[in-house]
Amino acid sequence: MNEHADKLVYRAMTVHDIPAILAIEEEAFTIAWSEEAFRNELINNMFARYVVMEYRSELIGYGGMWIIVDEAHVTNIAIRSDCRGIGLGSRLLDRLRLTAMEYGAVRMTLEVRVSNEHAQSLYRKHGFQPAGIRKGYYSDNNEDALIMWAELAREQQSEEEQQQ
Ligand SMILES: CC(C)(COP(=O)(O)OP(=O)(O)OC[C@H]1O[C@@H](n2cnc3c(N)ncnc32)[C@H](O)[C@@H]1OP(=O)(O)O)[C@@H](O)C(=O)NCCC(=O)NCCS
Repeated sequence: MNEHADKLVYRAMTVHDIPAILAIEEEAFTIAWSEEAFRNELINNMFARYVVMEYRSELIGYGGMWIIVDEAHVTNIAIRSDCRGIGLGSRLLDRLRLTAMEYGAVRMTLEVRVSNEHAQSLYRKHGFQPAGIRKGYYSDNNEDALIMWAELAREQQSEEEQQQ
């Protein structure tokens, strides 16, 4: 994907993206967010910041967070299933980190299913450390959530920043 990296476009999510987002959301998550949930985030939640990733004008990933004072709480991150495993999730997380820092966040947190080893591995690579468990957090199967935190150190440069 590296030779195509310059063709990746990141921009703020808008309500017009919701149909494409829902298609990815439904394949990515057992408990998928509804159109209404995304709409509410984009229109009514002043703390929410959502980013989409496009390749050749196709929406292939998205992620978002709530930034409250100096903490960013990641709400979701997903890559279209046919585009996974080639570094895009990592790039998207880099972008979320940069956005969080631009808005003044100095640390970032998220919850991840204890069984979601791919995502946990991605987060560990980006400096997230396990910090606790929320028992029975996921209502579909009562699965626990692992809570992870990362410090957003300025010197922790992303691949993208290093190429500039
Ligand atoms: C989690 C997700 C966003 C990762 O995106 P991705 O584009 O596949 O990830 P990348 O290709 O950038 O891989 C980044 C790291 O994730 C881990 N990873 C990704 N795919 C993996 C796999 N099949 N097996 C093991 N680890 C994997 C690895 O640590 C990888 O780093 P490496 O390539 O240096 O080993 C993607 O799998 C996804 O959308 N999953 C469904 C939604 C989801 O679970 N979101 C997270 C909710 S908390």
